[in-house]
Amino acid sequence: MNMTKNLLQIALLGHPVLRKKAQRVKSIKERAVQSLIDDLIYTVMDANGVGIAAPQVYRSLQIFIMASHPNERYPNAPEMPATPVINPKITHYSEETELDWEGCLSMPGVRALVPRSKTIKVTFQDREGNKHCDEYEGFIARIFQHEYDHLNGLVFFDRLDSLKDIYMEKEYKKIISTHKLVRYDIIC
Ligand code: NI
Repeated sequence: MNMTKNLLQIALLGHPVLRKKAQRVKSIKERAVQSLIDDLIYTVMDANGVGIAAPQVYRSLQIFIMASHPNERYPNAPEMPATPVINPKITHYSEETELDWEGCLSMPGVRALVPRSKTIKVTFQDREGNKHCDEYEGFIARIFQHEYDHLNGLVFFDRLDSLKDIYMEKEYKKIISTHKLVRYDIIC
């Protein structure tokens, strides 16, 4: 059995794969799908991200990883095991939204204040193919919405209230070191 985990190359904004609708995964147990999931987990951990979606590694499939964990970059992030999410649907978005910082592995060096629903209801399959119904809030809901957008050809720029909410990382760091505007920031 091949247990090698591969670090995958990340597609950058401008590549058409990031603007396509991803395909449903039909055979979750297939070896190619399982090893893609392992490689996505390995790649997001290596990049110190809290999420990654298959289109970000040039695979237009409805798979993403949520990998919230506290680290140097996100000291307040909730701890969760790297969770593969397959064929997801967001069935309900709360009307109440929150504005918070996001980054994206496909848009290095850029941050923005992105409005997201505070709570969402979701369905998805895990890597065994089992179905889940869940409700998420706050940071996890934000990661889910960010990654779900990647499966629909959207990036956080598409969600902004204003282009003035875009910051280069260097300026973002100055702001967060002087203001306590931020509870979390994420890069997915
Ligand atoms: Ni992203």
